[in-house]
Amino acid sequence: MDKLIISGGPRLSGEIRISGAKNAALPILAATLLAEGPVKVGNIPHLHDITVTMELLGRMGVSLVVDEHMNIEVDCSTIREFFAPYELVRTMRASILVLGPMLSHFGRATVSLPGGCAIGSRPVDQHIEGLVKMGAEIETDGGYIHARAKRLKGVRLVLDLVTVTGTENLMMAATLAEGTTIIENAAREPEVVDLATCLNAMGASIFGAGTDTITIEGVRRLNGASYDVLPDRIESGTFLVAAALTGGRVKLKDALPGTMDAVLQKLREAGAEVTVGEDWIALDMHGRRPVAVNVKTSPYPAFPTDMQAQFTALNVISDGTAVISETVFENRFMHVHELRRMGASIRLEGNTAITSGVPVLKAAPVMATDLRASASLVLAGLVAEGETVVDRIYHIDRGYESIEEKLTKLGAEIRRVPS
Ligand code: UD1
Repeated sequence: MDKLIISGGPRLSGEIRISGAKNAALPILAATLLAEGPVKVGNIPHLHDITVTMELLGRMGVSLVVDEHMNIEVDCSTIREFFAPYELVRTMRASILVLGPMLSHFGRATVSLPGGCAIGSRPVDQHIEGLVKMGAEIETDGGYIHARAKRLKGVRLVLDLVTVTGTENLMMAATLAEGTTIIENAAREPEVVDLATCLNAMGASIFGAGTDTITIEGVRRLNGASYDVLPDRIESGTFLVAAALTGGRVKLKDALPGTMDAVLQKLREAGAEVTVGEDWIALDMHGRRPVAVNVKTSPYPAFPTDMQAQFTALNVISDGTAVISETVFENRFMHVHELRRMGASIRLEGNTAITSGVPVLKAAPVMATDLRASASLVLAGLVAEGETVVDRIYHIDRGYESIEEKLTKLGAEIRRVPS
């Protein structure tokens, strides 16, 4: 298992390119299961979660062709098995995204229940209830969801809570249903909009994605298409925080600032000068120490839970005290214990972390059990005195493309070593 070794100190400066969004690429790859012809997906990030998705589709018998630029052409006409095994689903919860498309297109699907994960219990009841309301017969047995349906029926669905992959699964299933489906209390995340745009390019009829009411008029078939995934707003936010906490500056190319209002506003509050163009974002801290900022996570367009750990790292070296409230997941503060080992002053009260900024952190061996928590430890390492060793970085490889190469390009001293 690889480790990252970071020598803290250098002020980051430079320009990097932002990769395609993991959380859009995963549902879009699942959506290829709905098409009658090949679907070509571009701007796919080179990530472990993408490899898992390709393995999942490949094991079902789906044909995949990848070129040197990570454009993936998927043809599901060769599918043989309608099955997502536990051994893959347990490594990547987003595998549940194959359930809706597989059931809707082929009338059957057996998908492992994802089970708990490091950041909470994360049930999939909303996915299952929605499909049942659309006429699916679903049994859960032996840790698996066994689903069958003739043609799903359009219905009005009111989700109990805002769920991103739940909205995506039901939206995908509804594209081939008979009649109109309305999803109320839908997730408004940009990745949901990207998926809807891709599905519409395949011939679906979806309106209202990006609002809390999505209407899907079912069609008989979807076609092949060619689609490029939108830029990753969480990767973008992570590199902006990296520059901010080192007092440095960075320009992100191929980014989408319009999807990041809440994060950019918090960075400005922290004292950063942030400028944006249509597809770029520049941040300059002018060598200043950041000011601590209060953060409360909520579904889009509010502050994303996937940026909470990175802002915790920012706050622990900022000037002042701040309150971070996590309202989306029940157990998403594992990074707090590791940051404390680096000298951070953080008090935990339930789902709230109260940080008191210290001027400097001290390097320590650290590790984390989820993707964004691991990223926050890398960020802390950039400003810690000494050599920080971040272990179990396979979590980082799930969601960040070449993180050490991009940070090195910005002047960080970071290297990967095999354990
Ligand atoms: C997605 C993102 C993840 C992000 C999260 C919240 C992907 C692949 N992953 O995860 O990076 O952190 O959104 O923005 O896009 N819930 C239920 N029942 C359900 C579904 C969800 O109770 O059927 C709960 C969850 O436990 C959680 C909350 O709803 O507390 C939100 O979860 P959800 O939006 O579903 O997260 P994911 O789609 O898994």
